[in-house]
Amino acid sequence: MIPHKWFSLKLPFHIILLPLLALTLALSLSFAGLTHAASASEGDASDTRSSAARSSTAKVAGFAGPEYWRAVQQGETGRTQSQAREANQLINVQGEEWRQWRNQWVTPIGAYALGGTLAVLLTFYLLVGQSKLASPRTGNTIERWKRFDRALHWTVATLFIILTISGLTLLYGKFFLRAALGDSLWGNYATACKLAHNYLGPLFVLGLLVMIIKWMKHNFFNSTDIKWFMQGGGMVGKAHPSAGYMNGGEKAWFWLLTIAGLVVCVSGLVMDFPNFDQYRETMQLANLIHGSVSLLLIAASFGHIYIGTAGTEGALEGMKTGHVDEAWAKQHHDLWYKEMKGEVRTEGTDRH
Ligand code: HEM
Repeated sequence: MIPHKWFSLKLPFHIILLPLLALTLALSLSFAGLTHAASASEGDASDTRSSAARSSTAKVAGFAGPEYWRAVQQGETGRTQSQAREANQLINVQGEEWRQWRNQWVTPIGAYALGGTLAVLLTFYLLVGQSKLASPRTGNTIERWKRFDRALHWTVATLFIILTISGLTLLYGKFFLRAALGDSLWGNYATACKLAHNYLGPLFVLGLLVMIIKWMKHNFFNSTDIKWFMQGGGMVGKAHPSAGYMNGGEKAWFWLLTIAGLVVCVSGLVMDFPNFDQYRETMQLANLIHGSVSLLLIAASFGHIYIGTAGTEGALEGMKTGHVDEAWAKQHHDLWYKEMKGEVRTEGTDRH
């Protein structure tokens, strides 16, 4: 039985509580110390136990030694726990090679090619001017392009222009647009370009395929085209070389668009659909091919756009309205004109 006087002792509360807290703290600290010491000694023991195994691993992987890091730096695989394809490579050396190729070759050469083409076209326009109609318009027109052909042309052309603007933004935007727009606006614009490019690319593939199939029959070269090329397409001298439904230059553009366009499409699809398990290296190669060939195509398209608009009087009318003036048809596609008038059927002309 506890004497009653114990309860009646009037000790201040903190005098009891503080020593109790100190005791608890001391006990828990010493317990933690003991645990740490135990685990350390246990670790020592396990270190000793596994040192043999560890040194054999070190021999295999050169673990954490200079040999190991040299191998990692050279892009060797199998230096990580991961066994997944490509994830077991700590440093992707080919990635750096790709970066250098893209930044030191594709980017600057493309800029020179595009700038050079624009400069040549501008100089040509200033020196030679527009190719005018030699005789006045007759007011009579001939159908040159059906509605479907025009819809096809403008669909593929619009997609081409959007892909050009978005593609060039991805390649060159960071050099001047970022500073001009500020980080936030630039980031949003670049993301929009990337999305537009990625989603419209496959549509362009479809349009291009239909165009190739539909128009190929007009574009096989023949002897008339050789003569057309030898006369520089009429740019040299006064005489206008003969041409059928398509002239040599238009056929050359068709085949360039077909071949280079398909290369751009295939390389674009390789990058667009990484879910087919292609290697990173394949994607990097696809990017370099896609960048260089598309830049070539963009430069050539400048020539096509120039000839179809400012360069030749009346050329845009055909693709806009479907009809051309007889004066234009006689001057630029004389063999086709005669054929349409039922005058002759010459080699290389094809009825539209
Ligand atoms: C013919 C019109 C096209 C042009 C002018 C064009 C141009 C370009 C350019 C200049 C780039 C930037 C390359 C770089 O950043 O290194 C690019 C990237 C790309 N292009 Fe195209 N391209 C065209 C068509 C296509 C098509 C048809 C597809 C797909 C089917 C496609 C898919 C891609 C992809 C996935 C990228 C990488 C975008 C990224 O960095 O995320 N492109 N294109």
